Amino acid sequence: MNVAIVGATGAVGAEFLSVLIQRRFPVTNLRAFASNRSAGTRIEFAGRPVMVESLAPGCFDGCHLAFFSAGKTISREFAPTAVRAGAIVIDNSSAFRMQPDVPLGVPEINPDAIRGYRGIVAVPNCTAIILCMAVWPLHRAARLQRIVVSTYQAVSGAGARALRELHEQIEAAAAGRALVPKALPYPIVNNLFSHNTSIGPEGSNEEESKVIEETRRILGAPDLAISATCIRVPVPRAHSESINLTFADTLGELKARELLAAAPGVRVVDDREHNRFPMPIDASGGDDVLVGRIRADPSQPPGRGLSLFACGDQLRKGAALNAVQIAELVTNL
Ligand SMILES: NC(=O)c1ccc[n+]([C@@H]2O[C@H](COP(=O)([O-])OP(=O)(O)OC[C@H]3O[C@@H](n4cnc5c(N)ncnc54)[C@H](OP(=O)(O)O)[C@@H]3O)[C@@H](O)[C@H]2O)c1
Repeated sequence: MNVAIVGATGAVGAEFLSVLIQRRFPVTNLRAFASNRSAGTRIEFAGRPVMVESLAPGCFDGCHLAFFSAGKTISREFAPTAVRAGAIVIDNSSAFRMQPDVPLGVPEINPDAIRGYRGIVAVPNCTAIILCMAVWPLHRAARLQRIVVSTYQAVSGAGARALRELHEQIEAAAAGRALVPKALPYPIVNNLFSHNTSIGPEGSNEEESKVIEETRRILGAPDLAISATCIRVPVPRAHSESINLTFADTLGELKARELLAAAPGVRVVDDREHNRFPMPIDASGGDDVLVGRIRADPSQPPGRGLSLFACGDQLRKGAALNAVQIAELVTNL
């Protein structure tokens, strides 16, 4: 298959290169696109150099599959062009996620919406994917009525520049130098702050609004009550989420653990004896969403409320891995 990656030099783009190889995706020819800043540089794919190109008229001719991860403006402008050229587009940006005719795909949850689809398929927001992976098996069993989620989001979620800034600030802090934010709005070392997206009229930031709207869409639960608080923390990679759930039907802690243990793409990490639960360091670089701290919520009627803690690699399951899984479904691999 002729495959294009738009945003190939970015944090998600780099992850695409390794996920495609790890999953033995049948790539005949890979084309890498980025901004003019990177055009002419080389990246490596499967042991071979690939020249990075700028987006230009006709650049998707002959392309079967195009993964977009260069932000919503680029997706809005170029994804329709790629589709017109005959490619299936799998888009990591927020450009098309709430468009009713565009599937919002998490293969473990709504494979039938994706399988064999032609056109644009949207990859949900990374925080929403991790949340949905953790709650879907429970929602199927006992119908969720309400979710309260608080997040601890990794710096690489803000892109490759922000990740470099974290490493620079770690060195600066160790040397006693001033922490100078550039890609992020505030110092991230020795600190955390409310997610760096703008605040809407109701007081939610963009990330929180995406989590709320996209979670409802993925779970097929338009009336689900959701409250989200999204926070950026000084962790390089893998988002963490504290999740509090209310169910319409009864669901005990033991049954919940059983359902989560059987769910594809989920790994239960719930060792009370050794106080070992999901950690971003364990989720980083892996495919599974780790779920633990599975316990009854004592503030709710017995059997109706549960609390969980989840971690997932937002560059993999939250972006590149989920996109390649979608590609496998649309192309019937
Ligand atoms: N980071 C995450 O955890 C994550 C998770 C889920 C979804 N996403 C989404 O994925 C997308 C990329 O995120 P990222 O974190 O990978 O960002 P990033 O590290 O900042 O990378 C952005 C990529 O887009 C390219 N780009 C920028 N302007 C361009 C232009 N005018 N034409 C073509 N390419 C252009 C950049 O090329 P240059 O290197 O040349 O600048 C780079 O390859 C965003 O839509 C983001 O919301 C990110």
